Amino acid sequence: MNFKQVIAEQLKPHMEGVELETIVGMLEYPPNPEMGDLSLPCFKLSKTMRKAPAQIADQLKAAFPEHPAVERIESVSGYFNVYYNKAFFVGEVVSEVIGSGERYGAQNIGQGKKIVIDFSSPNIAKPFHIGHLRSTMIGNALYRIFSYLGYDCVGVNHLGDWGTQFGKLIVAYKKWGGAQEVEANGIEELLALYVKFHEEADKAPELEDEARGWFVKLEQGDEEANKLWKWFVEISLKEFQKIYDLLGVGFDSYAGESFYNDKMAPVIEELKAKNLLVEDDGALLVRLDDYNMPPALMVKKDGATLYHTRDVTAAVYRKQTYDFEKAIYVTSYAQNLHFQQWFKIIELMGYEWSKDLVHVAFGQVSLEGASLSTRKGNVVKLEELLHKAIEKTRVIIEEKNPQLADKEEVARQVGVGAIVFNDLSANRIKDVVFSWEDALSFDGETGPYVQYAHARACSVLRKANGSDSIELGFDGSAIDAAQLTNPEAIELARQLYLFPERVQQAMEKLEPSIVTRYLVDLAQSFNGFYRSSIILVEDEAVRKARLTLLKSVQTTLRSGLRLIGLEAPAQM
Ligand code: ARG
Repeated sequence: MNFKQVIAEQLKPHMEGVELETIVGMLEYPPNPEMGDLSLPCFKLSKTMRKAPAQIADQLKAAFPEHPAVERIESVSGYFNVYYNKAFFVGEVVSEVIGSGERYGAQNIGQGKKIVIDFSSPNIAKPFHIGHLRSTMIGNALYRIFSYLGYDCVGVNHLGDWGTQFGKLIVAYKKWGGAQEVEANGIEELLALYVKFHEEADKAPELEDEARGWFVKLEQGDEEANKLWKWFVEISLKEFQKIYDLLGVGFDSYAGESFYNDKMAPVIEELKAKNLLVEDDGALLVRLDDYNMPPALMVKKDGATLYHTRDVTAAVYRKQTYDFEKAIYVTSYAQNLHFQQWFKIIELMGYEWSKDLVHVAFGQVSLEGASLSTRKGNVVKLEELLHKAIEKTRVIIEEKNPQLADKEEVARQVGVGAIVFNDLSANRIKDVVFSWEDALSFDGETGPYVQYAHARACSVLRKANGSDSIELGFDGSAIDAAQLTNPEAIELARQLYLFPERVQQAMEKLEPSIVTRYLVDLAQSFNGFYRSSIILVEDEAVRKARLTLLKSVQTTLRSGLRLIGLEAPAQM
């Protein structure tokens, strides 16, 4: 039951000129339960209703009909405060969770409409670093959240597999590289070559020209250049795949930048035809002075295309291919200007769908003051980070629960979960100073803490069943909710009730951290309930009621963890 909706419906006949939706939107959760369960701040209505706030609140209170959901109403200095009938509320919440099971909180807002999510998108021949982790995890969470709310998502890994850096890499490889070293050490060796290129080019700038030359050759289909490039791509993808496997992340498309090689010419023609391209010293660019932005270079004077060119082309292609409702791009805010520029170009091309392009920007990750620069090779390698976390978890399991089955798998789920959860805890736009200690912490508001609450709920269910099953074993919708009116149970039901709203907010704000933080609150409320109430008591009505509430928490924790890309082991 949607309590805001129900209360708003009762109020509507007494609030002339105010739409039902407006009332729903005005209802707030008071900061503490003494102030009620829902509250309508009437000062926002003074104008429309032409009365003093206190008068409005009094009047609404007098007019409010008897309703099973409501125990009493109070009018306090311009606030209309609703106090739920607690047994009714808890009963409704629990039966809704139990009835929906793992789909609790799912909705069909999207009605199958397409959302293209461009995320992760690491660069070939460069390490998958901690910055890409953010894009991967935010994108993956958005993918799951949008899908949960009825959208048909297309996850695109726009691999950075094209660009002038491949000219540099080819030069470096031909001058200083060896096939065996590259085969043996993969990206690490490619990165070393890339770093060496920059060191050498500082001393000998003509290397830059040579690199440009090789990139042009690559774009023109030169056989040697293409063979090397393909090989670099293959080696890099193999390593990226290991990380995606650890993270449990997949994509619907790996169409990277090179996918658009043969699709750019028509787009450039279109830009020309629409009078958007200006020639400047042999190069072609789009002027954006009118929008207070620097020009966007589309074709260099040697004919080479750019990141911009490929993004414009990719967007046109994606609109044609998927007819998306929204196309989302998840990258660091360092790329804000890039996206503003090319979104504007799409608009100038006359495409009304330019308004459906969304840049989901996130904060930068720095490493104890130093910047994470690929050129200098100063990076935290994600694979190393994940393995450290898994190792740490393995040690803890050995210590605390050496009998555990599937130790390896649980260590992966919890170790990786700690990193991902930490990454998705803060608002995405915030800069993050990466710390090994925080990323690997299991205490406080962490992934393992939430996973542990889930495992604990599973363990009580197993005990109740005397078996490995974590199902209820009785009809959870028929419990006596009056047994669940102690403050901890009510607080827990209140948290459970918020889940669907939080998921929807996370989608609207494109902010997975809303779900992450919600899960901490839910786990804390659960621990409060668990401490206050023995679950497996003699009295059958009480035991069933408590078990059902606990089952509701277990299900919701699991769904929530899944939405942000974490697994929920049943034992740990
Ligand atoms: N490869 C880029 C990087 O690592 C991210 C690509 C984002 N997607 C896009 N369509 N531009 O910074």
